[in-house]
Amino acid sequence: MTEKVIRYANDAITVEWRPERCIHSQRCWRELGQVFRPKEKKWVDVDAAPPDVIRDQVNKCPSGALSIKTDDMEHGTASSGTQVDLMPNGPALVKGAITITYPDGRTETKEKGCALCRCGASANKPFCDGSHKSNGFEG
Ligand code: SF4
Ligand code: FES
Repeated sequence: MTEKVIRYANDAITVEWRPERCIHSQRCWRELGQVFRPKEKKWVDVDAAPPDVIRDQVNKCPSGALSIKTDDMEHGTASSGTQVDLMPNGPALVKGAITITYPDGRTETKEKGCALCRCGASANKPFCDGSHKSNGFEG
């Protein structure tokens, strides 16, 4: 299945958003609300802040739902290995490239990491879809 990618661009920067990866941490819009406006139809306004500010915020997205489209590796994934952080009562955040192999042998590569469900309730397994917030998952 091809992953949905929505792009928001101006001459200086292209922000990519992969809605299936968003774990609704709210971090982007809490920290840079003039750019990330979840109530708006075009919810990312790349003209509302300098490119560097947007890039810094995108790089803080815990799930990898937000990323910067780059033609070079300037802001690409570090090649120093993949790291996994377990969020309290939430997903396993994979930081760095991974390849997932499904039971049918199909493979899927996530270049910039992703959030993997630990609670078992996601409708988009193996990825977290934010369901852990409403099912009382502890762990
Ligand atoms: S996961 Fe990323 S895109 Fe989704 S709300 Fe959090 S910071 Fe924003
Ligand atoms: S850990 Fe987020 S949906 Fe399961």
